[in-house]
Amino acid sequence: MKNELLKIHPSASLRGSVTLPGDKSLSHRALLLAALADGTSHIRNCLKAGVTEAMIECLQSLGVALEIENGAFTGSADLTITAQGMSGLTRPEKPLYCRGSATTLRLLAGVLAAQQFESTLDGNDRLRMRPMDRIVKPLQQKGAVIRTANGNAPLFFSPGRLNPSEHVLSVASAQVKSALLLSGLFTEGKTLVFEPHKSRDHTERMLRILGVPVSEWEEPKKGYAAEVTGPVERIPALDLKLPSDPSSAAFLVVAGLIVPDAELQLQDVCLNPHRTGLLDVLISMGANIRIEPSPDIHGEPTGNLYVKSSTLAASEIRGDTVTRMIDEFPIFAVAATQATGITVISDARELRLKESDRISAVAEELTKMEAKIDTKPDGLIIHGPVSLKGADVDARGDHRLAMSLAVAGLTAQGETTIRGWRVLEDSFPHFPEMLRNLGADVQW
Ligand code: S3P
Repeated sequence: MKNELLKIHPSASLRGSVTLPGDKSLSHRALLLAALADGTSHIRNCLKAGVTEAMIECLQSLGVALEIENGAFTGSADLTITAQGMSGLTRPEKPLYCRGSATTLRLLAGVLAAQQFESTLDGNDRLRMRPMDRIVKPLQQKGAVIRTANGNAPLFFSPGRLNPSEHVLSVASAQVKSALLLSGLFTEGKTLVFEPHKSRDHTERMLRILGVPVSEWEEPKKGYAAEVTGPVERIPALDLKLPSDPSSAAFLVVAGLIVPDAELQLQDVCLNPHRTGLLDVLISMGANIRIEPSPDIHGEPTGNLYVKSSTLAASEIRGDTVTRMIDEFPIFAVAATQATGITVISDARELRLKESDRISAVAEELTKMEAKIDTKPDGLIIHGPVSLKGADVDARGDHRLAMSLAVAGLTAQGETTIRGWRVLEDSFPHFPEMLRNLGADVQW
């Protein structure tokens, strides 16, 4: 089949300045909150990719009017969303199809649990395999009426009455925390969530700029708390321009570090402190990354990144750093293959429950390129530096694995071919084109 393979050859140089589309997590939250707001919201630089298209389609099926225009950057859109307030969603005629997007499904679950109509959330075969008990059980504890197929999608919602609640999560998760806080907007009284480490707090920040108070504190035994008090009668229309996605920037950051003659600038990247684990770790490994902060955008720290080719030393990663770079391990593993020494990743069992089992998938695919990687139940042990060799590798239905393998291909001898590469359109549709514009030899 034409275009079945993405082909990458080693790159001697990578140079340029880029602006990436809006952050995926912020795009999801902005879309969903605009769907609950009063009147017409404007969201600029929203990510336009498979996962956010899934959210948009679900919201349309719930009666929300959306107009989509191409944004200033490839892969971004400017949206006008007209909604009817907190009780304005309408019963969908068919199951809401979230494609492969766990964020779409889990965030929507928090809102649908509070609706006075029936609905169903479903997704593709991969999403159906991912654990949904982590949102269903706490929502049921609040009084939501939800049936599942053994804790997996599809999820069937019936009208219920939500009660105040306190939840102590065993694993830090922004999706679970956000689903509960969103359900809390419709609950009379407090909804309180504790996490063992603090996950990304975009929901809390966005609610706050919309005038909905969110309390946050830390307790010695229970961990990090986030609490909302409902019912929230009204959310004002949003007018936001979203900063760029640090998790998409991560692929270019690592490419800029490991390609020999590289110098890249990445503009207006979201630098939420719960997303900057990768940058902190790479800098501690000797990476030449300069961060130039710019004024916050809608409550989110933002800045420009300047990246140059670097010599890296191995590192050990565990604890809350894992939460702060939870989406970045596939690309971090590529960087670690080029670092001198043994890099050890621990406390990262969650990686087995992402778009692929990222512990096995990263190790097996990079091993095909002659990386030296061992797996542990909760992480990876990566020996470096090694000269990677081009190989025939597989994206395994995981957008971040596809892009990580492409970056690995930039330093590998010979040709790297990636099967199933189009899955990268889930989050970063123009990634191959962007690499090519920066000087890489990428064909499809
Ligand atoms: C996300 C939270 C993270 C992350 C995902 C997006 C979010 O998931 O992996 O890509 O937008 O809240 P978990 O909350 O499951 O860790």
